[in-house]
Amino acid sequence: MSNPNWTLKDEIREYWSIRSETFDLSPGHEIFGDDERAAWHTLIRRHLGNGEGRAVLDLASGTGVISRLLSETGFKVTGLDFSEPMLERARRKHKALKTGATFLIGDAEDTRQPDDHYDAITTRHLVWTLPDPAAAFADWFRVLKPGGTVLIVDSDMAARSLSQRVMRRIAAWVKAITPNPATTHGVDRAVHNRILERVHFSKGAQPEAIAALLAEAGFENIVIDRDHGAIRKAQGRHMPLHQRIDRASQDRYAIRASKPSQPAAVAPEGARDRTRMGLAAAG
Ligand SMILES: C[S@@+](CC[C@H](N)C(=O)[O-])C[C@H]1O[C@@H](n2cnc3c(N)ncnc32)[C@H](O)[C@@H]1O
Repeated sequence: MSNPNWTLKDEIREYWSIRSETFDLSPGHEIFGDDERAAWHTLIRRHLGNGEGRAVLDLASGTGVISRLLSETGFKVTGLDFSEPMLERARRKHKALKTGATFLIGDAEDTRQPDDHYDAITTRHLVWTLPDPAAAFADWFRVLKPGGTVLIVDSDMAARSLSQRVMRRIAAWVKAITPNPATTHGVDRAVHNRILERVHFSKGAQPEAIAALLAEAGFENIVIDRDHGAIRKAQGRHMPLHQRIDRASQDRYAIRASKPSQPAAVAPEGARDRTRMGLAAAG
């Protein structure tokens, strides 16, 4: 009999815990060259500047790949993930690197971190798999300091345009005629698809839809950055041809947004009283 208490989140956690074993073997996840590392540093500095000891919360930190980049750019890093096997790997890696990063177990939709605490929040490849991104963004808004910045890196896997669909077909065809196509590094397609059907962005995580939800949560100065050429090129050197073509059919992006420096203006007491009394229009 199936366990009635087994939730979508349990399934997502188990999926990533299994994938933790091979996560660092795959290009596109772990970084295999100085050119890719430098391209990520450029992206981070473009949106967050140099860390200079500021506090960043790296959500869904996985094996600590992005956390490491953040340490290298001068941030004081706290990683948070809900998969213990992922956290174990991140802790081991960062201990060897002596980055000083700390890694906590937690849910990215309800971080339980203090109010107004972090200068920045980062997260790569999480938002597409959130059941309730609106709840997550409200929580991230709460834990950021006024003036703090969130940086989301993700991709929209839905091939929407004709050229994207054609590229995807070509990728599948190239894979089919490749004698030994590269391993999928632990991806269980059936489980992946079963999860995808039930998350909020089940039809693909379009950056404009994420930006709209960020605005609803109170974020401002929202920027969508599709300039991923240098990262894509560097990653491509370590990928088989079919994977390179497939990745080119995806919309890969970063989204930056700020928590306002001042709390939203509240109408003065008198004005509120007049509004309550239906007198606002009288001025
Ligand atoms: C694709 S991996 C990305 C890891 C890392 N951000 C990176 O880019 O290398 C997705 C990670 O999200 C974590 N995750 C998914 N949903 C989560 C949630 N609600 N709370 C915390 N972690 C979550 C998984 O455990 C996994 O480590």
